[in-house]
Amino acid sequence: MLMTKPVVLVTGGADGIGRATAALFASRGYRVIIADLQGAEDAALALGPGHSGHRLDVTDEPAVCALASGLERIDVLVNNAGIGDSHLPSVEQDLETFRKVLDVHLAGAFLMARECGRRMIAQRSGAIVNLSSIAGVVGLPRRNAYGAAKAGVAMMTRSLAAEWAGSGVRVNAVAPGYARTALVEKLVAAGRIDLDAIKNRVPQGRLIDPEEIAEAIWFLASPAASAITGVTLSVDAGWAAFGDFGDAS
Ligand SMILES: NC(=O)c1ccc[n+]([C@@H]2O[C@H](COP(=O)([O-])OP(=O)(O)OC[C@H]3O[C@@H](n4cnc5c(N)ncnc54)[C@H](O)[C@@H]3O)[C@@H](O)[C@H]2O)c1
Repeated sequence: MLMTKPVVLVTGGADGIGRATAALFASRGYRVIIADLQGAEDAALALGPGHSGHRLDVTDEPAVCALASGLERIDVLVNNAGIGDSHLPSVEQDLETFRKVLDVHLAGAFLMARECGRRMIAQRSGAIVNLSSIAGVVGLPRRNAYGAAKAGVAMMTRSLAAEWAGSGVRVNAVAPGYARTALVEKLVAAGRIDLDAIKNRVPQGRLIDPEEIAEAIWFLASPAASAITGVTLSVDAGWAAFGDFGDAS
């Protein structure tokens, strides 16, 4: 009998955490669909035969609807596409960047969840994993849009989970700490973050590998997490658990 492979759609799957997630699901028997602004076709080819890549802007509503309605089935959606904040002092932050960051992280994740969730509800099964961040858990300076978007993603996760639990659709999130990806490398190159200072702040004293975040996404999407919905799982090497006292300790 020909077994149909389960299908995972990873937004922003051409690079970083999304690429590691796509590779993990491919290695464990999933058919992977990568949707990214750039490099999606090449990233899918690199996974081997049977996978596909689509150029997609997650904020483009007609394009998101077209991609989702063209899918034969969808078992897992990983809402991973994302961009950095301006990291400027808040009094210098422009509204255009603020709106853009909210749009990609929050509206983009909503559109993808709405359109894939529609299909999952009809199938009466499915799992969605959203990418939140430590910036959505604790207040970090100069990240108004990014932090608000990621906290919004965590609350949207709970809201969708509560609504769709009876339809067989689970919705969870991961909240990573700093991982070594293009997004973080760009901030280092621009002098916006200091990796040594970050490592000093992290209880485990290190950055996180994208593959470690992919494993947490895999777990939340898998039957091993069948009773888990609406949670945001920190994958942050201890960052959010540690109430840094600074000199006051
Ligand atoms: N790297 C970290 O330390 C870290 C920490 C916490 C959360 N996150 C979150 O994890 C996710 C992935 O981050 P990363 O570090 O792997 O980033 P990355 O820059 O390495 O990769 C992000 C991918 O998203 C794609 N993308 C950006 N905007 C898009 C859009 N509008 N439509 C479709 N694709 C788009 C990019 O082309 C890129 O391939 C993001 O949501 C990010 O906010 C990252």
